[in-house]
Amino acid sequence: MTSFEVWTRGLARLRVDCLIAGVFEDGELPDETREIDRASGGRITALVRRGDFAGRAGEHLLVPDLPGLRATRVLLVGQGKRGSLSRKSWRRAVLTGLGALSRTRIASCAVALGRPAAAELDDYRLASATAELTGVALYRINDLKSGKKPRAPAINRVVAGPVTSAAAAKRGFAHGAAVAVGLRTLRDLGNLPANVCTPTYLANTARALARRHPKTLRVRVLDQQAIRRERMGCFLAVTQGSDEPPRFIVLEHRGGKAGAAPVVLVGKGITFDTGGISLKDPPAMDEMKFDMSGAATVIAALTVAAELNLALNVVGLVPTCENMPSGCAVKPGDIVTSASGQTVEVLNTDAEGRLILCDALHYARRFKPAALVDIATLTGACVIALGAHHSGVMANDDALARELVECGLRADDRAWQLPLTEEYGEQLRSNFADMANVAGRDAGAITAGAFLGKFTRGMKWAHMDIAGTAYLSGAQKGSTGRPIGLLSEFLIQRAGR
Ligand code: BES
Ligand code: MN
Ligand code: ZN
Repeated sequence: MTSFEVWTRGLARLRVDCLIAGVFEDGELPDETREIDRASGGRITALVRRGDFAGRAGEHLLVPDLPGLRATRVLLVGQGKRGSLSRKSWRRAVLTGLGALSRTRIASCAVALGRPAAAELDDYRLASATAELTGVALYRINDLKSGKKPRAPAINRVVAGPVTSAAAAKRGFAHGAAVAVGLRTLRDLGNLPANVCTPTYLANTARALARRHPKTLRVRVLDQQAIRRERMGCFLAVTQGSDEPPRFIVLEHRGGKAGAAPVVLVGKGITFDTGGISLKDPPAMDEMKFDMSGAATVIAALTVAAELNLALNVVGLVPTCENMPSGCAVKPGDIVTSASGQTVEVLNTDAEGRLILCDALHYARRFKPAALVDIATLTGACVIALGAHHSGVMANDDALARELVECGLRADDRAWQLPLTEEYGEQLRSNFADMANVAGRDAGAITAGAFLGKFTRGMKWAHMDIAGTAYLSGAQKGSTGRPIGLLSEFLIQRAGR
């Protein structure tokens, strides 16, 4: 566990293994670095003048044994152009600094980087972002390589500043540290292969989480038989081709007033998506192990709610199964009956996420949610539309959509709203059933949202498509931990009002 403290002034007297200080690209020094420079007799200015450090974003240089400081070392970090200093560039510099230190044996450090205006980064944000980014910098992929593991990072004490309100910083540290726990939970689950992270594994993870928070968290897991009793015909159609048994997880955090309407979160838990009979192309099919990222986000969000003991009722619903082709798999053209009673013609078995979600969204109705939010790696079309930068938000309630988008901005985990008007739903017409599960190529992210919308009438509902943001491909392949930042912000805000 890392401990967090604040510094207010007197950088030269801070007793830490390392001060993390910024340098701008034009050789100018932020106030914090100037203070360190003065104390050490101008060594940093001299070093920069000699051209030993250019201050470009991403650059860093460890300078040991500067005179006049109690800290043993200074890590210089490039902060780019002074004029482009923003919360985003500050975050990048923090991550560069802590990332570099995490690969050394340094145990304590103070973050003393040039800081954007308080309007962009107040004491609360400074502290929460520092705690969150420390978690990111110290995260190591839970790999299954057989060789010797590299040494775990040594950092156990981080001092952030300068702050004027220690109380605001304290709250920030707590929130950021809880988000870091959520991030780790989500990324670990996402990165695990599908032969380890099965529906049963997800259910066991939820159970273990509830055991750690016996006072507020309760869990219930429905097996195939119980799912049948709920008449979740769409969910059952997706799982019927797999040998791996499905689960429906209900996780409840009761931190609010008894009887207060809960926030209900629903996460897509396809632990592997082959496409089913509408089989996917082989390239990058391994990445479909990430198709349970929505489920992992929901489990992580309940982790955050429990860690912070949020004064809010939160329910997490996770329908989880595989999507496999086999002799008993659902076939294109099959018509199934959802828990809501509406019938669905399964024209494409690869549009399976909406099938498991629609039954979970219907199940949510019994909780009379104050807000209902589903999170899913739902469509390739959303990746085409927004890339890896924004998660897609669609909603039947504009205030809820706006709330989520704003939480994304504040948490630096951005989302963008797409329009969800009636026309899109009309594209789902079927000759044989109440609706088809696909509507052709145009506006694929939105027609998927429109499909889900047919199961959420009368509830304040938003859908988040995280197909582009939940994980990275290529050399950087792995779970990003998004959108737990956005969702944590959403829950924290809702608990506070
Ligand atoms: N899990 C996929 C969506 C996806 C695609 C996530 C790429 C991440 C990256 C989903 O189940 C799917 O296959 N969707 C289809 C829907 C189509 C058949 C209407 C898609 O996007 O191609
Ligand atoms: Mn699919
Ligand atoms: Zn899928």
